[in-house]
Amino acid sequence: MRLKKISSLRTINSVKKMQNICMKIRLSKNPRIVLVPTMGALHEGHIALIKRAKATKAIVIVSIFLNPKQFNEKKDLLTYPKTFNNDKKKLKSLKVDYLFAPKVKEIYSLGFQTKIAVQDFKNHLCGLSREGHFDSVATIVLKLFNITMPHIAVFGEKDLQQLVIIKKMIEDLNLPIKIISHKIIRESDGLAMSSRNVKLTNKNREIAPIIYKGLKRIKLISKLKKRASCKNLVKTLRDYYSTNGINNVEYIEIIDTRTMTYPRIPSKDCHIVVAAKIGNVRLIDNLKF
Ligand code: PAJ
Repeated sequence: MRLKKISSLRTINSVKKMQNICMKIRLSKNPRIVLVPTMGALHEGHIALIKRAKATKAIVIVSIFLNPKQFNEKKDLLTYPKTFNNDKKKLKSLKVDYLFAPKVKEIYSLGFQTKIAVQDFKNHLCGLSREGHFDSVATIVLKLFNITMPHIAVFGEKDLQQLVIIKKMIEDLNLPIKIISHKIIRESDGLAMSSRNVKLTNKNREIAPIIYKGLKRIKLISKLKKRASCKNLVKTLRDYYSTNGINNVEYIEIIDTRTMTYPRIPSKDCHIVVAAKIGNVRLIDNLKF
């Protein structure tokens, strides 16, 4: 068997070193940088983002940093899958130029004092149950931007509220960075890929695709019944989930993410968004109308 040609991925752990490299890239003949921020445990969703980054022809930096500050439960952080060596192999075969993989101490110095305070956009959906989560996400993403100095950054639509908040931060703080968003990558049965999927028991893995099936059903119903209200559509989905074994729903909403408001009747700019626990694994998904 012929081995795939492996390019020379450079792994950088130090902030200073990464910044020096990025400053040099910015002065070079191909000065453009694209960043794909991740927390590791790379799956096909991440890979799609990285391929999109490669297609820009810029120098590709992937960061792997399991950011402790954005986790609300210690257990979730401790049990988060960690597959660093495998991740590195994937990045090598994708011909990624740099992997930025700092230790926690490298990112958060002793007595860390400064963070981004997201305003109203965090007081919705996942932000309601995950206190401080989006402030921590915005802070780490801004830090990663300052370290890797990208022209472009690629984010997935799977974490819709995160994407909206990062785009708004870029606008609000005048960051010269273009965001490319990527559609959700799914398993063949429709389950949105997630690093947390491996934590599902076999039985719950069979139930999990119902989340997306339900979203598609609601989109279809709203197409057929043009005047169906968001309230009724949400109730229909909640009932569908409970009759199909998903009882621990954290939220179901129909939201216009341009303004983070909840219209009476869905428009083309709306998403139906859901967070539900299956067993003890919290899953999120969304679908645009
Ligand atoms: P993580 O969960 O590792 O996700 C990294 C990126 O991959 C995010 O932009 C996320 O939306 C995207 N992604 C995950 N699953 C996807 C799927 N099935 N299809 C398409 N894109 C998908 O999101 C984070 O890390 C962190 O919050 C981070 C931004 C790195 C800050 O710590």
